[in-house]
Amino acid sequence: MKIILTGGAGFLGSHTAVELVNEGYEPIIIDDFRNSKSFIIDNIEKIIGRKVIFHCADIGDQNKVSTIIKNEKPAGLIHFAADKAVNESVLNPLKYYHNNIGNLIKLLEVINNFNLSSFIFSSSCTVYGEPSCIPVNEKTPIQPAFSPYGYTKQVGEKILTDFFKTKKQTSLTILRYFNPIGAHPSSLIGELPLGIPSNLVPHLTQTAIGKRKQLTIFGNDYNTADGTCIRDYIHVVDLARAHVLSLKNKIMSNNVYNVGVGKGSSVLELVNCFEEINNLNVNYQFGDRRSGDVPEIYADNSLIKKKLNWEPKFSLKDALQHAWNWELELKSKYKVD
Ligand code: UD1
Repeated sequence: MKIILTGGAGFLGSHTAVELVNEGYEPIIIDDFRNSKSFIIDNIEKIIGRKVIFHCADIGDQNKVSTIIKNEKPAGLIHFAADKAVNESVLNPLKYYHNNIGNLIKLLEVINNFNLSSFIFSSSCTVYGEPSCIPVNEKTPIQPAFSPYGYTKQVGEKILTDFFKTKKQTSLTILRYFNPIGAHPSSLIGELPLGIPSNLVPHLTQTAIGKRKQLTIFGNDYNTADGTCIRDYIHVVDLARAHVLSLKNKIMSNNVYNVGVGKGSSVLELVNCFEEINNLNVNYQFGDRRSGDVPEIYADNSLIKKKLNWEPKFSLKDALQHAWNWELELKSKYKVD
């Protein structure tokens, strides 16, 4: 069964391509490498031991995407292609509205002409804003967005829900990711941040390897046990598996799931765990709070466990070991800025 992955060369897309193959699906990757590199496709092929179907295209290019869908005849589509840097979205909101909303609408206009049986959307726990009650479940109210990025996820969910009400044959699943980290255990694929990473783990691994001078922990005066923010860090392979299970256990309505491990870890705990598991010291300092950061959030993941039989298989330690192995691999084999 063929499944299109928009943004399939990205961090989540590449890991999902591998997990799809493991479960007998045929991923069709569409990517224009704006946030990835072509060697990721080569490395997916090394992991799966064969060629993968790849099309270089901007998902906003309706002619190209339409031709790909017409020729490949996919059963489903997973839409990963989007921008995700919160800070950048504040500085350049139009980039986010253009790519995350404008291109989503263009994609829906194309698939309106085809009969897909499944559509999966990459959403984010950012839709919950600063929740008054933790852990958050799928019924936790959506709060006004803190950033254009967060707003694009809220609006994206709404656009898709409205659109798929008109396409009764397609099952829509919205996955609200918590904090994806780690890399494939083979160290052949992982996160490839371009420029200075805004997310914690790539900044941490780049500091440990000497690419960045120092990691700043944003705020140690929050109302949490050690004063640093709390997040729900999930191994990227576990998150990728949630997509495969969504396809396998296709349910026709109300498919909104939190995908997190269901446990909060503080920034300091994560940094300490990274140092311990990899036996190294990281140069870090405490700095000011980062604007827009929520003090604490983690998932109530009981719905996805019950409905899709999903369980995380990897621990925080595994994720931080795999992230470090990937950083070492990047340094030794690939020239990435
Ligand atoms: C946010 C969203 C998440 C989304 C992601 C996209 C929330 C709660 N989470 O993740 O759903 O997928 O953006 O990028 O809205 N930190 C440091 N130093 C650093 C970098 C980060 O201390 O150099 C801290 C942050 O303050 C935060 C934690 O590490 O407490 C995680 O930050 P990050 O990796 O950027 O992810 P979120 O902002 O939680």
